[in-house]
Amino acid sequence: MGPERNIRNLTLIGFMGTGKTTVGHMVAAQLHFDFVDTDHLIEARSGLAISEIFAQQGESAFRVLEGSVIDELARRQGTVFATGGGVGANPTHLASLKTHSLVICLWASAEVICERVQHQTHRPLLQVSAPLEHVRRLLAEREPIYRQADVLINTGSRQLREVAAQVIHQYHTAVGFPA
Ligand code: S3P
Repeated sequence: MGPERNIRNLTLIGFMGTGKTTVGHMVAAQLHFDFVDTDHLIEARSGLAISEIFAQQGESAFRVLEGSVIDELARRQGTVFATGGGVGANPTHLASLKTHSLVICLWASAEVICERVQHQTHRPLLQVSAPLEHVRRLLAEREPIYRQADVLINTGSRQLREVAAQVIHQYHTAVGFPA
């Protein structure tokens, strides 16, 4: 890790449905860190649900809101951030997050993701007629950037509790905490 890193937070990136919010809550509770979900921050700031922002203002307006929230995170310490799926796919955001966070990507295959999100309706990007094809394409597009996280954890065959334990282990290792 370069000398410009000052790791005082932990950020979870990864595709929709990989468990970032659930795992983030568990990790924050165990590390006694604060927890911030960037989508919730955007909703609180705008007074609109993510789906309403997409419907009323479009995806590009949502990405602008997302960018302003990411810039603010650097002011915090002792915080676990769960990010929206597009955040970790943006090289500028990833570079900004790495200045203050250990960045961990939660990974799952397109099939596992679709299985997990099939009954959920709050994600505008997944309200399409052929979700599996769409997820495969978007995941392939994003994969090279997601892979630039400090750590990649496959969530496919693991309980989220187990994933949380791995995240904590990686964080302790990165900051030099005795195992
Ligand atoms: C998005 C993921 C969503 C949310 C928005 C866009 C994406 O967050 O930010 O619908 O571009 O992948 P989750 O990953 O928490 O579902």
